[in-house]
Amino acid sequence: MKALTLKAPAGLENIVLSDIADPGRPGRGEIRVAIKASSLNFHDLIVAKGWQPKADGLILLSDGAGVVEEVGEGVKDFNVGDHVVSTFFPVWPAGKPIPEVGGFTFTPGDGVDGMACEYVVRSENAFTLAPKGWSHAQSATITTSGLTAWRALVKNGKLKAGETVLVQGTGGVSITALQIAKAMGAKVIATSSSDEKLDAAKKLGADETINYKKTPQWGDAVLALTEGFGVDHVVEVGGPATINESLKAIKVGGHISQIGILSGVDAAISIFDILGKQVDLRGVIVGSRQDQQDFVKALEVIGQPPVIDKVFHYAELDKAFAYQESGAHFGKICLEW
Ligand SMILES: NC(=O)c1ccc[n+]([C@@H]2O[C@H](COP(=O)([O-])OP(=O)(O)OC[C@H]3O[C@@H](n4cnc5c(N)ncnc54)[C@H](OP(=O)(O)O)[C@@H]3O)[C@@H](O)[C@H]2O)c1
Repeated sequence: MKALTLKAPAGLENIVLSDIADPGRPGRGEIRVAIKASSLNFHDLIVAKGWQPKADGLILLSDGAGVVEEVGEGVKDFNVGDHVVSTFFPVWPAGKPIPEVGGFTFTPGDGVDGMACEYVVRSENAFTLAPKGWSHAQSATITTSGLTAWRALVKNGKLKAGETVLVQGTGGVSITALQIAKAMGAKVIATSSSDEKLDAAKKLGADETINYKKTPQWGDAVLALTEGFGVDHVVEVGGPATINESLKAIKVGGHISQIGILSGVDAAISIFDILGKQVDLRGVIVGSRQDQQDFVKALEVIGQPPVIDKVFHYAELDKAFAYQESGAHFGKICLEW
């Protein structure tokens, strides 16, 4: 079967379309899935560029959606023909985070082989059902960015209608967060480096927009848009370059989901703002399998498909990553066989 593997010393030029052994038939508790589509995340890009030191021969990508071809003995959740989507943490069934999710040791496309291949045989915990009626590419957006946005706002943030949410930039996490927030009756303030993308965010329902390149002190602009109170939730994806503006923009008692590292990992943070505003500042790494099942159920009711900017053929994974790196995308970039 075909697979996209990474060759040492990594880098987009070392992504190889390989012929590797078919994974065979499922054992007890396992399912065999024909993977039809994946979606790209910032995390997949940094793995491809060498973040994971033991990546020689690794099959790339965490997100995979496809069709169950065979079920092993004892499988409870799936039947042949089901449309499914992979889980980011197959070892985290439900509840609070567990130590095993820490180093991404069991995460497909990082600690273990990923979804950029034609067939996989995995524990049934490595998948959930996909939303009914969604294409495989649409379903593939759920695993990483989709579930992260859901957990940040709904599970952790307990988002309520009438609250205000700030989303940063127009990548996969932020656009899904915008869609979830609007579906749940919240007001959304969106930032972007591009006025054109801000227009597109408005068409998706963003109530207010700010160009963070033209307005670097955008925290003040958020206060001006919220009668000086600030927002109830920030979906923080920028990291060091954005966290102090987020602390300016958050309401007293508000909730910041620390999700992203787009500008790095080390920041000088205003402890004064965290204390003064009694901010609920919470780290989020994707979510459990149960969180994904809850999200899929919600998506079937919400009925709004994800925003897919461009679909590439798997053989063009290097081009798809280069497109992602260019920052030209709005929403998700997907791959199909
Ligand atoms: N913790 C988790 O579980 C988790 C899960 C998924 C993703 N993440 C992280 O979240 C971040 C976003 O991931 P993604 O997959 O959504 O990325 P993505 O689709 O590649 O989106 C990147 C977008 O972020 C915006 N951006 C870049 N620098 C920015 C800045 N300084 N301030 C505001 N916006 C900025 C840009 O939007 P504009 O072009 O509109 O300016 C850019 O297009 C990454 O750091 C990723 O590792 C974390």
